Amino acid sequence: MATALAFDIYGTLIDTHGVVARLQLLVGEQAAQFSRVWREKQLEYSFRRGLMQCYENFDVCTQQALEYTCQLLKFSLSAEVKSELMALYRKLPAFDDVATGLEMAKGFGFYRYAFSNGLKSSVEALLVNAGIIHQFDAVVSVDQQQTFKPNPLVYKALAGNMPQPGGSIWLVSSNPFDVIGAISAGLKAAWIQRQADAVFDPWGIEPTLVASTLPNAIQAINKSQ
Ligand code: LAC
Repeated sequence: MATALAFDIYGTLIDTHGVVARLQLLVGEQAAQFSRVWREKQLEYSFRRGLMQCYENFDVCTQQALEYTCQLLKFSLSAEVKSELMALYRKLPAFDDVATGLEMAKGFGFYRYAFSNGLKSSVEALLVNAGIIHQFDAVVSVDQQQTFKPNPLVYKALAGNMPQPGGSIWLVSSNPFDVIGAISAGLKAAWIQRQADAVFDPWGIEPTLVASTLPNAIQAINKSQ
């Protein structure tokens, strides 16, 4: 039976802080803080919209988080510059180990999903620009369910996208909230701990496995079969 790997995109395969170089020219030494607040607010907005059941897609969360960040840090960026930053969000780089990890997953015969909060069209553009779209069998967006991770619905819906019924599904993610969401919905989940000091939420719900790189995670998943 096929084993499927559902790869989280933002923060796992794609570096959301790839905007920092451009931000440095706009906001100087606050670039890293700007990028961090933008990303944290984007996620917070998705969580709140999910809870409130007032879905707007992830591009809207990203745009509104950008507005918030400008206001909080007191930068009045022009509409053109904000559009440029939003466009850059579709051209973020993949982490260095991603091409190798995805190639390895293909070699082991895993069915490979890109599985994201992002809109399908935005995720596809991102993966094309990062040169890795050909490494996926399917791109699955939570937009189908009109809600966001970690709602159990979006993880359970993944099973409906499997090529054959009954195979096991692993989430592969660097985002602890995503790993906990997947495990709680009955999936297996690998946490990619890209930084040694990254903290996993102490909820008493542990990842099925932890690895420091994508290739290490793929190898460990393959061994566990
Ligand atoms: C995603 C979010 C978690 O790509 O960043 O789904």
